[in-house]
Amino acid sequence: MTRRTGSSERPDLPIAVVLGAGGMGMAIARRLGQNHRLVLASQSAGRMEARREQLEGEGLDVAVVQCDVTDPASVEGLARFVGGHGRFRTLAHVAALSPSMADWDTIWRVNLVGAARMERAMLGLASQGSVAIFVSSLAAHMAPPLAPALRDLLDDPLAADFLDRLSETVAEHTPTQAYILSKLALNRLCRRAAPRWGARGARIVSMSPGLIATPMGALEFANQPGKIDLLDRTPLAREGTMLETADAVEFLASDKASFITGTDLLVDGGIGAVLEFSGG
Ligand SMILES: NC(=O)c1ccc[n+]([C@@H]2O[C@H](COP(=O)([O-])OP(=O)(O)OC[C@H]3O[C@@H](n4cnc5c(N)ncnc54)[C@H](OP(=O)(O)O)[C@@H]3O)[C@@H](O)[C@H]2O)c1
Repeated sequence: MTRRTGSSERPDLPIAVVLGAGGMGMAIARRLGQNHRLVLASQSAGRMEARREQLEGEGLDVAVVQCDVTDPASVEGLARFVGGHGRFRTLAHVAALSPSMADWDTIWRVNLVGAARMERAMLGLASQGSVAIFVSSLAAHMAPPLAPALRDLLDDPLAADFLDRLSETVAEHTPTQAYILSKLALNRLCRRAAPRWGARGARIVSMSPGLIATPMGALEFANQPGKIDLLDRTPLAREGTMLETADAVEFLASDKASFITGTDLLVDGGIGAVLEFSGG
């Protein structure tokens, strides 16, 4: 046997894929890395090596893969890598673009179409005890009721003409509208997909953060002055932290959540409830 030193490899552990290695993604990776081998995937090729070094330096078993969820071949490549790396157990799908980061079209491509693609790709690797957690947003809970035609359209994001039909159906083509509706559709996707994950003994859930102190959160505060009002009305009177979102993902991934599937967990300090009972 070849003797190796200085390696944090843990071939005995199942795999957690963390897709989207920004603020929240890295906090979640650190947590899931306690009892998984990590496959950390994200868009920017340039930052992946530094991210790997950070996590390896903390003693975690981590492989990095560059993956752009808007590119079907890239998602298939990630799934192939995971399939050849070990036993897939957990997906934390964190990647998304906020309204200040991109235009209408790009937000849809990343936040919903990309997420739907990942759901399909990881389903193929799921087995008894697997779980997929999709990070959504409080925004999903702020959308007005959907007209049936829009609802049916949002429930079919992998249709070839999805984006064209969306542009025809929705009047307001703003990044904010794309963010709200794409997150709402993501929560619906996780509820709709529960039977196909259940058929493999696996679970799928969404987790909707409220105002969280990350660079993305700070950018939105800077660009949307009205957002400070949401913070003022949050019952817990502060932003959530990345660690608190990692706590929620860790719980949802754990055996303590073994009967939780096809639903959403709001992690928002109570602002969703305030909006519901105050009429918006
Ligand atoms: N922060 C908040 O207040 C807040 C509130 C509600 C919901 N959320 C949700 O929480 C999640 C994480 O947000 P965050 O605050 O951690 O933001 P973030 O730091 O900007 O993280 C988002 C990540 O998505 C990745 N990404 C973007 N486009 C991608 C693509 N095409 N393919 C693959 N990866 C892509 C980025 O990758 P690279 O870094 O590699 O470019 C980035 O790491 C998002 O789903 C967001 O909608 C955040």
